[in-house]
Amino acid sequence: MSKRDFFKKIWSMCYLSTGGALAYGGLSIYNNNEKFYGDVLMPLIRYIDPETSHNLAVKALKYELIPKSKYVDDPVLKTSFFGKELSNPIGIAAGFDKQGEAVSGLKKIGFGIVEIGSVTPEPQSGNPKPRVFRLSEDEAIINRYGFNSSGHTQVLQNLEKIDAEKWHDSILGVNLGKNKDSLDATEDYIKGLKLFSTVADYLVINISSPNTAGLRELQKKDHLYQFLKGIVSARNSMETEKKPLLLLKLSPDLSNDEKNDIVNILNKKECKIDGLIISNTTLQRSNLTSTEFVEETGGLSGKPLKDISTNMIRDMYKLTKGKVPIIGVGGVSSGRDAFEKILAGATVVQLYSSFAYEGPPIVSRIKSELSECLLNDGYTCVNDAVGKEIATGNKKSGFFRFF
Ligand SMILES: Cc1cc2nc3c(=O)[nH]c(=O)nc-3n(C[C@H](O)[C@H](O)[C@H](O)COP(=O)(O)O)c2cc1C
Repeated sequence: MSKRDFFKKIWSMCYLSTGGALAYGGLSIYNNNEKFYGDVLMPLIRYIDPETSHNLAVKALKYELIPKSKYVDDPVLKTSFFGKELSNPIGIAAGFDKQGEAVSGLKKIGFGIVEIGSVTPEPQSGNPKPRVFRLSEDEAIINRYGFNSSGHTQVLQNLEKIDAEKWHDSILGVNLGKNKDSLDATEDYIKGLKLFSTVADYLVINISSPNTAGLRELQKKDHLYQFLKGIVSARNSMETEKKPLLLLKLSPDLSNDEKNDIVNILNKKECKIDGLIISNTTLQRSNLTSTEFVEETGGLSGKPLKDISTNMIRDMYKLTKGKVPIIGVGGVSSGRDAFEKILAGATVVQLYSSFAYEGPPIVSRIKSELSECLLNDGYTCVNDAVGKEIATGNKKSGFFRFF
C-alpha cells in the first residue's frame, strides 16, 4: 500500500468514526438517553467552565435544540396549585433561566413549573467572574452571580413571546430581585409586581439571596413588617381583575426565633402573602467532602442543602399550620427527595443543581420515581401527601409501613 493510500484510509476511518460518534450522540440526545448524558455528555461538559456551560444550556433550551420529553406524566402526579391543575409538581428553580429566554424549552423537557429570574428593575452585570463553582464530589454548586439581569423591560419582552396557549397545565413564576445600588428596595419589588403581573402566574419576592449586600436583612422582623406591608398594599390596590399571587423566598440559614418572627408577621392581614419558597442557597459549609472551592464566597446549593431545606419546610409548615402553600427546593436529585419535601409540607418541588449535573433526563427520572413513591404509599394524587409526615407521623412510608 502506498503512503498516500495509507493516509487516505486513516482519514476515511477518522471520518467514519467521527460521523458515527456524532450520529450516536445526536440520537442519544434525541432519545433523552440517561446513560449517554450520565457517562458521556455531562462529564465532558464539566471540562467547560460552569458559567459558560450554564449559558450554553440556556441557549440550547432557548432554541429548543433539546427534544421534547417522551415521558407522559403519570396521573398520580397531577397537582392542584393555586387553583391550577398541573400535570406534575416538578419545577426548575430561579437562577437557571435568569432572563426568561428558555421558558418553552424548559416546559418541553417536562417541567410543570418554570420560575425565571431573579430580575432587577434596571439591567446590571452582577459580580465579577468567576462567580460559579462546581463542588463535583458533593454534587453541589457555590454561586455568587449577584443578580446579573437584563432588567425588567428586556425580560418582559422575552416573556411576551411565549405562546400562552401551551401553558394550560403548567405555571410560570417570575422571581424579583432588587438592583445593587437601589435606594428603595420596596419600590424595586413593587415595580416588578406591577410589570410582570400580566404574564406571570405568581411573583416571588426574593429577599434571601446571599449575594446582594443587605438583602437578607429584609427577612428580619424590624424590616420585614414595613417591607411586606408596602408590597401587599401595592398589590391590593392594583386595579387589575386578577391580583398577582405573591410568594416569599426564604433563606435556609434562619434561626428558630427568626422563623417565628416571620410567621407572626405573615399572620397579619396587611402582610398576607400567598405562599413561601423554601429555600434559597445556604452560607453553611458543613458535611462537604470537596476540598476545592469550599472557601469561595457565595450560596451553596445541591445535595448538601437537601436536609437543611427539608427540615426548614417541615418547621414552616408546622408554624403556619399548613395554611400557607410551600414550594420546596434544595438538593432534590431523586423522586424520593421530592417525596420527602412533599411529606414535609411542600405542594410542589423545584430543582436546579441536580439539573446542572445530570441534564434533561433527570426531569423524567424524578417524575417517574416520585409517581412510584406516591403509588407505593397508597396516594392517588400529590395534594393528598402534602404534610402527611406531620399529620400521621408518616405512618404510610418507610419504617412505619410494617406496623
Ligand atoms: C447558579 C445559581 C444561580 C441562582 N440564582 C438564583 C436567583 O437569581 N434567584 C433565586 O431566587 N435563587 C437563585 N438560585 C437558588 C435556586 O433557585 C435554589 O433555591 C437553590 O439552588 C437550591 O436548589 P438546588 O439545590 O436544587 O440547586 C440560584 C442557584 C444557583 C445554583
